[in-house]
Amino acid sequence: GRKFFVGGNWKCNGTTEEVKKIVTILNEAKVPGEDVVEVVVSPPFVFLPFVKGLLRPDFHVSAQNCWVRKGGAYTGEVSAEMLVNLGIPWVILGHSERRQLLQESNELVGDKVAYALSQGLKVIACIGETLEQREAGITAAVVAEQTKAIAAKVSNWDNVVLAYEPVWAIGTGKVATPAQAQEVHADLRKWLHDNVNAGVAGSVRIIYGGSVNGGNAKELAAQTDVDGFLVGGASLKPEFVDIINAAT
Ligand code: 13P
Repeated sequence: GRKFFVGGNWKCNGTTEEVKKIVTILNEAKVPGEDVVEVVVSPPFVFLPFVKGLLRPDFHVSAQNCWVRKGGAYTGEVSAEMLVNLGIPWVILGHSERRQLLQESNELVGDKVAYALSQGLKVIACIGETLEQREAGITAAVVAEQTKAIAAKVSNWDNVVLAYEPVWAIGTGKVATPAQAQEVHADLRKWLHDNVNAGVAGSVRIIYGGSVNGGNAKELAAQTDVDGFLVGGASLKPEFVDIINAAT
């Protein structure tokens, strides 16, 4: 079976004091063991070593981005090698905010995923359609195209979690219905079956992101092809614990 996965994407939020508070809440939380649910929190780069040092050992940390290739003369960037050197096991790549605000293309995201994996990082690779694309009826084609750009560069999917995050659901309070999430996740699994292989289709975790909260997590988690969540706003609040507990 696919182990349930809950990621908390803190985005560009937090002060040292706020970070301490949320980590304390997580450290005191009663949740199932690592054998049941994999929990990863993703603070901004500057807080990564601090959070890693404070966080309970059964939870792990993730960066929110990294440079596409080996480090060097790339002012303002952080390389995959640096994350590995600091013992950061995970990185989120291709988040829609980076695709939209920083013009990250499907091809760049595919290159980033492949390079991060080659350095030994585990990757939460994000995909998802805009409202305009959903209304045009091209959701399946859009997420297939995004996945294809990753599949073109990646041969071993063991360390990849695919995060389906419809752009219209991110930070809007408009969560996908369980049926909408299930439909896209099933389409993605079929795409992986037909274009990668049956093994990968069966084993890759496909998690949902977009306005997940303590109230809607349980019903979404009950869907066959929803293997967990990538949580934004609610990952900074005590209800993140309820979302983790939706695993069981
Ligand atoms: P929200 O949970 O705030 O909608 O954000 C989702 C997200 O973008 C996680 O990566």
